[in-house]
Amino acid sequence: MTNSAFTLRPQAKGDQIHIDQLLDEAFGPGRFTRTAYRLREGVGEIGQLAYIAQSGGKIVGSLKYWPVSIDRRHQAVLLGPLAVHPDWRGGGCGLALMECTLPLAKAFGLGLVILVGDLSYYERVGFSPVPAGRLRFPGPVNPTRLLWLELVPGASEEITGGIGKYTGRLPSLPEPGPAEQAQQQ
Ligand SMILES: CC(C)(COP(=O)(O)OP(=O)(O)OC[C@H]1O[C@@H](n2cnc3c(N)ncnc32)[C@H](O)[C@@H]1OP(=O)(O)O)[C@@H](O)C(=O)NCCC(=O)NCCS
Repeated sequence: MTNSAFTLRPQAKGDQIHIDQLLDEAFGPGRFTRTAYRLREGVGEIGQLAYIAQSGGKIVGSLKYWPVSIDRRHQAVLLGPLAVHPDWRGGGCGLALMECTLPLAKAFGLGLVILVGDLSYYERVGFSPVPAGRLRFPGPVNPTRLLWLELVPGASEEITGGIGKYTGRLPSLPEPGPAEQAQQQ
């Protein structure tokens, strides 16, 4: 996907160091203390859904997803971190990264995406508030910022409980391609 300012592509080997710089700039050094990071610690990201935006050879946006479990019984994916370089903000980069990867997640058979973020931004790609009391994060989270998106209609029905780490392989995902395998080594 391309617009006048940036191009989207899957994350590749060697990108991570630049993505870390982008995330440090976007979230600050305290980013590792955020509740969402507790769910990511020691768990592999979903390599097939890690995408970056680049402009003139520079990485200007990044989006990743992590698998999570709900009530130890259900699988879902956690969207984030999503970050866009300050000079490229407001140009559609963040929305483009989500519009590119959410259909991909659906094509992989993933049913439910959750995140912690601003409703007024994420509702643009279909997220809505998680009804009060349905999900519990393993740390402090403003409940009004807890959002979800059904990729498969009905995927959130009967989903309730604590969100935890998911360390298994999501069964619906295809085997990683060569780029993802290189990334995971
Ligand atoms: C949030 C972020 C990813 C948005 O990326 P972006 O490429 O600038 O966003 P887009 O260009 O796709 O969308 C811009 C639109 O979203 C709005 N928007 C951006 N961030 C928003 C927010 N946090 N809440 C509500 N609206 C927001 C803009 O005002 C703009 O509105 P407009 O189209 O009416 O002018 C980017 O600002 C960023 O990296 N912020 C720092 C890290 C961060 O907060 N990440 C999200 C964690 S939940």
